[in-house]
Amino acid sequence: MTEKELQSVKQRYGIVGNSDALNRAIETALKVARVDLSVLIQGENGVGKEIIPRIIHDASPRKNKRYLALNCGAIPEGTIDSELFGHVKGAFTGSVDSREGYFSAADGGTLFLDEVGELPLQTQVRLLRVLETGEYIPVGSSEVKKTDVRIVAATNVDMKQAIADRLFRQDLYYRLAAVLIAIPPLRERGNDVDILFRKFALEMSERYQMPPIRLNDAARSALLSYPWPGNIRQLKNVAETMSVTEDTREITPEILAHYINFQTEHTQLAVNGAHTALESTDTSARLDKDTNTILQMILTLRHDIEQLKAEIAQLKQGQWSSNGSSNNNSPLLPYHREAPVIAHEIIDNAEEIVEDIPPTSDVPLRTKSDVERDLIVQALHKYNGHRKQAADQIGISERTLYRKIKEYGLEDL
Ligand SMILES: Nc1ncnc2c1ncn2[C@@H]1O[C@H](COP(=O)(O)OP(=O)(O)OP(=O)(O)O)[C@@H](O)[C@H]1O
Ligand SMILES: [Mg+2]
Repeated sequence: MTEKELQSVKQRYGIVGNSDALNRAIETALKVARVDLSVLIQGENGVGKEIIPRIIHDASPRKNKRYLALNCGAIPEGTIDSELFGHVKGAFTGSVDSREGYFSAADGGTLFLDEVGELPLQTQVRLLRVLETGEYIPVGSSEVKKTDVRIVAATNVDMKQAIADRLFRQDLYYRLAAVLIAIPPLRERGNDVDILFRKFALEMSERYQMPPIRLNDAARSALLSYPWPGNIRQLKNVAETMSVTEDTREITPEILAHYINFQTEHTQLAVNGAHTALESTDTSARLDKDTNTILQMILTLRHDIEQLKAEIAQLKQGQWSSNGSSNNNSPLLPYHREAPVIAHEIIDNAEEIVEDIPPTSDVPLRTKSDVERDLIVQALHKYNGHRKQAADQIGISERTLYRKIKEYGLEDL
């Protein structure tokens, strides 16, 4: 495959990066697309596994047939068989109608089984059978059905370990992994970190019409040596959150340190750096899903708190203009215009926040009502007085908006 062909595929699918390991993965995907072998994509959380099956399908002779994706980890154990293989009427309590499963719907096409390591053992048996013979039996039926589906599966689970722990059938593993495509973690992709960061910063700048953030040299080196336990998803979150929460556009290592815990010991698990758990690949693999979800929530909360702190600093400096026109230099305000929920939460919290700030001599403190009134004025201006749109943007009901307009005497806007 020529360099030009490779670049054009990347462009088509929005894939950024130029590391050898990533290029190899894409090339393998394109090569195996033509033959009907099962493919297993392996890689840590957030490395970008989900685009590969799409590339395979689009480059395969099945491209004009259906491409269906199913996240095996997101479906309750009790219903997964029926999702995959369908069921007949009366197969179980509540099944008033029969239902077509994915194997029937994707006949002739490609089925992407994401998080395949999460499949219950009984479903693994059925899956093995359909892979070996092309035959399956819908739940509650005795009729054998035929299908012709190409399977591409993905997992971030250590399959060897899952097999050793008897959580995954070895015979199924070998069936699924006729071709194995390993997507490398971000820490092994060298300069891709920098290229990806710039892509995400640019996307945010376009979305919110503000200059893109950029890394200074020291920050770039810090990012390149960071292990990125959450891989590209984490990098994307960091770049996006920094874009909207930081006033300055030049990112230094000191700023980065608010978003990334550089100090972390790989095996340490402390809530203080919820990153910590996610930062150890080994630990991360062992954490069950719920724990990971909770840790992610803590991370999100932490970002929210930091964002709120930035708001406090702005309130303190009186940067929110009292006449309702938006502050020209702040990257925060455009973000609020697009993020009504956060904006609304800030209104709710503003009163307490304002009380917590020690008064400064020359800046009069603004009250919750001032802030709320300004947001309403801004929204009404933005939508030329269209109240439904303004209410949607602020994140309040139209009825509440009418009440507030009356309360603040804004009927003429
Ligand atoms: N090379 C890339 N260029 C641009 N964006 C990417 C690239 N790789 C991944 N992404 C983006 O990173 C995010 C995570 O990717 P994806 O959802 O495919 O991860 P994953 O490997 O399926 O993770 P998980 O195992 O947690 O499901 C997505 O928003 C995706 O668009
Ligand atoms: Mg995924």
